[in-house]
Amino acid sequence: MKNCKFGVFGYPITHSLSPIMQTAAFDALGMSNCEYKAYAVEPGNLMEEVLKAQAENFCGLNLTIPLKEKIIETGLIIPDDFSKKAGAVNTLHFKGGKDGEIYGYNTDAKGAAKALEYAGCDTFGKKILIIGAGGASKSISLYFGEAGNSLKIINRTAEKAQRLAEEIAEKTGNVNVFGGGFESGWDDLKEADVIIQTTELGMGKYEDVSVFDQLSLGKDETNNKTKDEMKDELIRECLENKTVFDIVYNPEETKFLREAKAAANVRALNGMMMLVFQGALSFEIWTGKKPDANVMKEAVLEALRSKSRHESE
Ligand code: ATR
Repeated sequence: MKNCKFGVFGYPITHSLSPIMQTAAFDALGMSNCEYKAYAVEPGNLMEEVLKAQAENFCGLNLTIPLKEKIIETGLIIPDDFSKKAGAVNTLHFKGGKDGEIYGYNTDAKGAAKALEYAGCDTFGKKILIIGAGGASKSISLYFGEAGNSLKIINRTAEKAQRLAEEIAEKTGNVNVFGGGFESGWDDLKEADVIIQTTELGMGKYEDVSVFDQLSLGKDETNNKTKDEMKDELIRECLENKTVFDIVYNPEETKFLREAKAAANVRALNGMMMLVFQGALSFEIWTGKKPDANVMKEAVLEALRSKSRHESE
């Protein structure tokens, strides 16, 4: 029997790649006494299931949608400073075993920062544009707000981005955090050095939509350009030589990344290494060991590709 248990709680949880990724990390370090599995946990049962895991001697857990915020409400855990401010926890550590305290962390945003670094993007002092104002945007904005970056958050619903920007400015003391809608989207793209896309555009039912489709193209002065030509021209004008990061990893390339790469010379990255690094950071919290991010990446890539092979068969 495995004597060091780990897992991910979420609802639904069937698509989680964490078991494959974390198991690859354990195997690569020869930690064959560790197991990592996915568990479907409804929000209403979260407290009970976390306590049950603790009683069963689990070492650590990841939490995913819709449990990251919920766990704080239960009052069961001690969140660290960042996850408390973010209002979301994705990593639990049963540090003191069965009867000890349960500590909470948020490795999502640091995972995003490490993914940018891995891609060769130095974010120090850079102007960052964050598209979207949901949960993912919140922890990423908080992270870069704390790092002192100048931030603009834009969202379909402008008020939500404005509220988030105010919250980040207040929590971090960073006065260069602004929020708004999509009206001045092209100017915002032009102003930024690094662009981070955090909405669900490009995946699932929005597979054929990119944020560029939602920005106004203005008027065609010459009247002889197609909409696509106008869009490409604006993308080139606003994104040339910049870093464009879409946190979506399935599909591997969203329409947003595809359009950016086709029209301009950009450093483009998807969310796969963010997934890998948030998992690697959780792994380190639990075990004190640094896992091999490349081994984890290969496991994720293989799983995604075999899934898409099966789907196309
Ligand atoms: P997550 O936790 O993954 O960030 P979320 O909290 O539900 O998810 O936030 C979803 C984000 O995607 C929001 O920024 C949302 O914009 P609104 O606040 O205007 O709803 C954005 N989003 C979702 N569907 C969208 C669409 N069709 N067009 C533009 N933005 C969309």
